[in-house]
Amino acid sequence: MSYDGLETPGRNDPCWCGSGKKYKKCHYANDVKLEKLYNEGEEVPRRDLLKTAADIEAIKVSAEVNIGVLDYVADHIHEGVTTEEVDKWIYDYTVEHDAIPADLNYEGYPNSVCTSVNDEVCHGIPSADVVLKAGDIVNVDCSTIKNGYFSDSSRMFCIGEVSPEAKRLVETTHEAVKAGIAAVKPWIHLGDVSAAVNKVATDAGFSVVAEYGGHGIGKEFHEDPFVSFVEEAGTGPILAPGMCFTIEPMVNAGKPDIDMSDPNGWTVRTVDGSLSAQWEVQLVVTEDGCEVLSW
Ligand code: MF3
Ligand code: CO
Repeated sequence: MSYDGLETPGRNDPCWCGSGKKYKKCHYANDVKLEKLYNEGEEVPRRDLLKTAADIEAIKVSAEVNIGVLDYVADHIHEGVTTEEVDKWIYDYTVEHDAIPADLNYEGYPNSVCTSVNDEVCHGIPSADVVLKAGDIVNVDCSTIKNGYFSDSSRMFCIGEVSPEAKRLVETTHEAVKAGIAAVKPWIHLGDVSAAVNKVATDAGFSVVAEYGGHGIGKEFHEDPFVSFVEEAGTGPILAPGMCFTIEPMVNAGKPDIDMSDPNGWTVRTVDGSLSAQWEVQLVVTEDGCEVLSW
């Protein structure tokens, strides 16, 4: 195929995806569609970004740990816990399940998880000094490697009673992710998903961070495409079955501007000090929609 320069099997040869089926009965029709869209000037995913059935099964094994560890956090997080303790839970649970915390040592990141509290937008570093208190909202962003496959998801936790505005921000951000999931199907533009997510957040009076977004994921932590949540419908790459990526908008109660100047080199905060929330799911595009793999 000319759209990705990769070799194309003969119609009666085994499909490139390893299904064992003849190419003409497997990915042939999809490839023809992608080639046509490419020739019409669309951006289309390379075939090496499309996960095979075996890849998806392996990602699910990784995701079982990823979901399990966040379920563990959900059961144990409460007022008085430090984010360093959360980090230890994540590390212990992950290695006990024969997996590796993907964050640890990633580009020099010092911990096993990101814990972003209140005005922290992302990449909050766990610390013995950060004691969770009633009224806090905290994002726990956990990424897992098992047998070489990556899973990545994050959830918000409300500590004790939180303000009605904090609760609305957390719930709206969750709704925005759900709207993104509902929008995903093959042959649309990635920007359609972005717009669906963005609309829920902005209709509620919140703002969406532009500098960060979701990403392809599978054999690498961060693969193409970059998944923006500030792009317009009808823009960006075409979605095809087998693409695996995250939806993970960062939504601010106030302005979208972020401050990346923390001397620790990681923690990102809202410039105006307003609260920020994020939920993250990992999904795969199917023939008629998508399947959520981790949450
Ligand atoms: N988990 C983040 C994501 O959703 C990445 C964190 S990288 C780290 O893509 F180094 F900060 F941990
Ligand atoms: Co991610």
